[in-house]
Amino acid sequence: MSESEHIFNTLFFGKNELPALPSIYNEAIRLIENPYTTTEKLSRLIMQDQAIVSQIIRLCNSPLFAARQEISSLGNAINYLGMNVIKEMLLQISLVRTFPFDKKTVPEFDLSVFWEHSLGTAYLTELIADKLNHKRKDLHYFGGLLHDIGKLLIYHVRPEDFSRIVALQRENGMGDLDAENEVLGIDHAVIGAILAQKWHFTADVVDMIRLHHDVSGGNQIDVCLVRIANHFAKAAGLSFPWESREIPITNDFAWNVLTGDDRTKIDVERMTFEITDEAEKVKETVKSMLSRRDT
Ligand SMILES: [Fe+2]
Ligand SMILES: [Fe+2]
Repeated sequence: MSESEHIFNTLFFGKNELPALPSIYNEAIRLIENPYTTTEKLSRLIMQDQAIVSQIIRLCNSPLFAARQEISSLGNAINYLGMNVIKEMLLQISLVRTFPFDKKTVPEFDLSVFWEHSLGTAYLTELIADKLNHKRKDLHYFGGLLHDIGKLLIYHVRPEDFSRIVALQRENGMGDLDAENEVLGIDHAVIGAILAQKWHFTADVVDMIRLHHDVSGGNQIDVCLVRIANHFAKAAGLSFPWESREIPITNDFAWNVLTGDDRTKIDVERMTFEITDEAEKVKETVKSMLSRRDT
């Protein structure tokens, strides 16, 4: 066992079990990954959980996914958006359910802001991948959505430590990684990667989480995509107030990896401008994602 894993186990395996994704999520993913699965078969499984059905329909009609016509049934949603988008939504819904709003220990931590940042990063990872012709179906969305999941695990299982971490950031101006290392001896990127591994996500997704802050490694395209999308999400205001929004994106090594010699592939200023509009859609979508979650 690596040292990080040892620290992880000491921190997060105590009296309580490690949070787990709902079993219906794992069953649905197995079905979606089977090429012989039909819409009817997938619908039948998801229909067992009416809360998920209504959340999917709400998401379908939210600004980020908005279809041209209103979607009112699960079958419609699967046929119109395709199983891969349903897979992304299922992960999103399952994560919200796994980490509910029930901690009051850290009043300054706003879970909606966390989801705005994560959903924004997921959306932008896909968008940038698309612009640069690196699209890999749901992989980028998963990496973007999960990249900071380690923070949520700290918040959920060790709220007092989380509170100290936030205080170090707000009061001493420390960066998140330094503050986490000081309090826990491990940071959210490593924590998130170990959690994703335990949840059986693929190695690609685990790497995207583990390396999104690592300037020494992680030169793969997928890792760089999440890293840059994370910067853009912050630049668009999808971040906590104590986090810096001025990130020199074009000086980042990941930007070089993605654009190579052709700096015209993405116009950063224009993109920042465009995504400020998109950020509003992300906020609206998070609102609908978190509203009446259990109905
Ligand atoms: Fe991060
Ligand atoms: Fe982030």
